[in-house]
Amino acid sequence: MSKKKKEVTLMDKIVSLSKRRGFVYPGSEIYGGLANSWDFGPLGVELLNNLKAAWWKKFVTERTDMVGVDAAILMNPETWVASGHVGSFSDPLMDCKKCKSRERADKLVEGWQFDNESEETPANWAAEKTPPQDMLDFINEKNITCPQCGKLDWTLPKAFNLMFKTQQGVVEGEGKDIYLRPETAQGIFVNFKNVQTTSRKKVPFGIAQIGKAFRNEITPGNFVFRTREFEQMEIEYFCKPGTDKEHHEYWKNFVMDWYKGLNVTPENLRLRDHDPDELSHYSNGTADVEYLYPFGWGELSGIASRTDFDLKQHMEHSSKDLQYFDEANKEKYIPFVIEPSLGVQRSALVFLCDAYDEEEVKEGDTRVVLRLHNQLAPIKVAVLPLSKKLSEGAEKVFTLLVRELGLKIDFDVQGSIGKRYRRHDEAGTPYCVTFDFDSLEDDTVTIRERDTMDQQRMKIDELVAYFREQFKY
Ligand code: GAP
Repeated sequence: MSKKKKEVTLMDKIVSLSKRRGFVYPGSEIYGGLANSWDFGPLGVELLNNLKAAWWKKFVTERTDMVGVDAAILMNPETWVASGHVGSFSDPLMDCKKCKSRERADKLVEGWQFDNESEETPANWAAEKTPPQDMLDFINEKNITCPQCGKLDWTLPKAFNLMFKTQQGVVEGEGKDIYLRPETAQGIFVNFKNVQTTSRKKVPFGIAQIGKAFRNEITPGNFVFRTREFEQMEIEYFCKPGTDKEHHEYWKNFVMDWYKGLNVTPENLRLRDHDPDELSHYSNGTADVEYLYPFGWGELSGIASRTDFDLKQHMEHSSKDLQYFDEANKEKYIPFVIEPSLGVQRSALVFLCDAYDEEEVKEGDTRVVLRLHNQLAPIKVAVLPLSKKLSEGAEKVFTLLVRELGLKIDFDVQGSIGKRYRRHDEAGTPYCVTFDFDSLEDDTVTIRERDTMDQQRMKIDELVAYFREQFKY
């Protein structure tokens, strides 16, 4: 049983399976779609809900040092001035005058071999706000041509802010400019004082949030890896200045362990510390958890050490005191912050890629199976009457399981039993329960396991206890 085959076409297979089984559809498909937007279907929404619930349980519920918030997506625009997003959350874009394709100047030169002495790197361009003319001169000098048409005829790079801007107010053109939040983090920072005083938490403690974020990405793609609308699961963990390094180490490992605990192959995961010239303006150290996607290694989540940058900025811009008073030591300080930030849809993509398997059942017969962790599986158990005539008895089993377990149970009568098993293998359903003619006589059913395809006979009145054990996490 091979865990996974990394093939060039794996992503195509995942996209196709997602559509076929109802995990993910192209967004607004009946209108020809909207580029790089995706809608989650019946199985997809269960997967997302399960992974968010698993995260919340591990990162919030099971801990005494964590509380949650659900802040508004639309925030006072001053928030984004204070956070630095209005000033610097942008990419340098340039157009090819010949073929009109639009490219990121920093990405164009990324493959360029910079000598170690050189001050000029794409990361430095962003950090040092290099003038557009200097970027253009560099690109022309190095003869970096258009990847689409091969010509060297670029416009001057222009800073393109990644925040979606909209207007608040009823009169068109007279509203106040506001932004769709590009990260959930700021909704936590602006509530730091409210949460700390009402929850009476002492530093170190964390505030968690799951919610939508929006970025007008220039190069979205790779299915749900990079989209313009996505969800984040973020924590801002407030600690005493000077203890940030140890907390940073802790959270790096905690995030890695979470993915591994949900069966992501350890060899497909790695931690990568950012080079100093890669760090965001607020960070004194960031590590990415990276995954080996079908298209290569890429970011899965980030664990940033954000110093006291955000609270300090919000203090300055709001004129509110956001310092923490340490009663035990009678001292006041602005806490430092460690931020584990995970993408919901990007995590779902990783769980799908890692769980995907093709297994030869017998010669010439291969099954596709999603070996999802029980906690993530969209449907936990499928109840299958062997024949439509057995539906009444099987429905009683279905009702019993739903009522007693409170889990997502499916009832499936369509097609041959073999086809139904295969359908549920592709859906990642860990167990199928088959109600057959013997069940009418002896009150037993067959349980089939997804991964091993092993079957065992069990009394109906033992099912609830059995599944409670399987779905204990
Ligand atoms: N508050 C910190 C922050 O937003 P980030 O590295 O820009 O940091 C954190 O984003 C995580 O959010 C990423 O590791 C990724 O999982 C997810 N993410 C970011 N941009 C995304 C996009 N355009 N599409 C899907 N997920 C994205």
